[in-house]
Amino acid sequence: MYEHDVLVVGGGGAGLRAAIAAHEEGADVAIVTKLHPVRSHTGAAEGGINAALRDADSWEDHAYDTMKGSDYLGDAPAIETLAQDAPGEVFQIEHWGMPFSREEDGRVSQRPFGGLSFPRTTYAGAETGHHLLHTMYEQVVKRGIQVYDEWFVTNLAVSDEETPEDRTCHGIVAYDVQSGKIEGFKARQGVILATGGPGQAFDHTTNAVACTGDGYAMAYRAGVPLEDMEFVQFHPTTLPSTGVLISEGVRGEGGILYNAGGERFMFEYGYANNDGELASRDVVARAELTEVNNGRGFEDEYVMLDMRHLGEERIIDRLENILHLAEDFEGVDGLKEPMPVKPGQHYEMGGIETDENGHTCIDGLYAAGECACVSVHGANRLGGNALPELIVFGARAGRHAAGADLGEPKIETGERGDIEYDETELPYKPGEVDMEGPQTAAGAAKARSDGGAVATDSDSIVRGAVESERARVDHMMEKDEGVQHSQIRAKLQKTMTQNVNVFREEEGLKQALRDIREIRQAYQDVYVADPSRTFNTDLQATIETRNLIDIAETITLGALVRTEFRGAHWRAEHQERKDENWLKHTLISWHEGNPTIYYRPTILEGEDKKYEPKVRSY
Ligand code: FUM
Repeated sequence: MYEHDVLVVGGGGAGLRAAIAAHEEGADVAIVTKLHPVRSHTGAAEGGINAALRDADSWEDHAYDTMKGSDYLGDAPAIETLAQDAPGEVFQIEHWGMPFSREEDGRVSQRPFGGLSFPRTTYAGAETGHHLLHTMYEQVVKRGIQVYDEWFVTNLAVSDEETPEDRTCHGIVAYDVQSGKIEGFKARQGVILATGGPGQAFDHTTNAVACTGDGYAMAYRAGVPLEDMEFVQFHPTTLPSTGVLISEGVRGEGGILYNAGGERFMFEYGYANNDGELASRDVVARAELTEVNNGRGFEDEYVMLDMRHLGEERIIDRLENILHLAEDFEGVDGLKEPMPVKPGQHYEMGGIETDENGHTCIDGLYAAGECACVSVHGANRLGGNALPELIVFGARAGRHAAGADLGEPKIETGERGDIEYDETELPYKPGEVDMEGPQTAAGAAKARSDGGAVATDSDSIVRGAVESERARVDHMMEKDEGVQHSQIRAKLQKTMTQNVNVFREEEGLKQALRDIREIRQAYQDVYVADPSRTFNTDLQATIETRNLIDIAETITLGALVRTEFRGAHWRAEHQERKDENWLKHTLISWHEGNPTIYYRPTILEGEDKKYEPKVRSY
């Protein structure tokens, strides 16, 4: 068994920042990650990092824009922490050598992004995430922080108390992709999940194949509620053939969108009379699809994004990467032609419920970055707010896990305090199917208890978790027939993309839940065709597919029970934001295979003011 003070799961931006912070607090920290850190999906982030750096800007304005962008579902203490800490974090990474784009006078450049009242987005060309990742990885190497790369963490080692709020996380179980060994890692102080998003639940996504919601699923099955999962961001400008992202930076620099009639529809049809293409993402994505649905799209599928008028010099200086992406993936020369774009799944606003210190309701278990929901983004994330979130809250989680005193959090977690249970009659029983294989919580618990007495000390808890994980993997490997994960995953992606997309209807959401139930049933029969134990990507993807099923179900359940239209969550039958009933977070927790849904009020009280919900227009 390996052992460290703090274990960080995931080597992307949030994980690297958390590890550096924990190390600076004196902890023996290790990163355990299924990818080498610089291959993490943070590297695909293009546009930038919002931070109020200029005298004419203020953290208060950043906080206000973020709250408005969230459609008043973000929690003020989290949003204000983000806006206050972002400038310091940006200066920190600048001092570590981040190659920001700069003005003639040497200052870090900033550009407009959607929903911002000030051009606040710092950037490094259109490869900001790539440079951020490399800058922080250098710091990890410099500090000698141990990295277990190509170790896929498949489960948490959590104690067995009845209620999650009484449990403690003692470590993790990981599968060494190179050797096929399944081993335990004990954490003396804390485990930080920084595993990124679940974009692979959809079939048109900007997310890498590695984004399979692993952290969400592990935390969820350990008893941590997932918060606001119904809020999925569809980015307005992705390439139709692949889902590859075309940065909002193009519109930030002045790029325009038009329909098949050559109309600049954001203004022409009144979707956003003030900000046009730079309205918030949810607004622009709906506008594009409305154009297509009304017959004004190209090939009944997409609209055009044009940046030719910006001129070659500016494009090369600030957006060169976009030229390569458009050329390589769509065969389009962005200097000479407009680029076809359509909305694609990009980001999950919801996630593992945490407080401002990244702590979950399980002692010793933390989350940061996209997989966490603190909640900064509420119902809609502003472009340029993901990267500051991962450095600000990655750093806080790292410090707290290493023992730093960050003060009492204002955000409560777990099934306690001011909560209200959902009473919607669900037509389908969500959660596990009635079987007892090692795929299920019941089966895993049985495997654990068959192995001996219920463990209480941390070594035995980690060992028990390793045993049940070995049993689960052996079960899948021993079968020589059944269904393959790729068939299951394709069905899941299809129903999610058809029914849980930008526009949602009750019947479609119910259909998706029915499909997910069938998919879950089919998964009981999954087998791994590749018998080898080394670099078995078939096995890895099979485990990831189980994670996607759990996450897709929480997204769909949340979308069905939230009977209003807020931010990125549009409902055909409910065309208004309903503040009197819905200024609250949706929480879904897994009780031994049965999801429970409950709500907690949104916190609109900031440090010095209350954020009063207003009509949101751009
Ligand atoms: O459009 C973009 O460059 C993406 C930025 C973000 O998601 O924050």
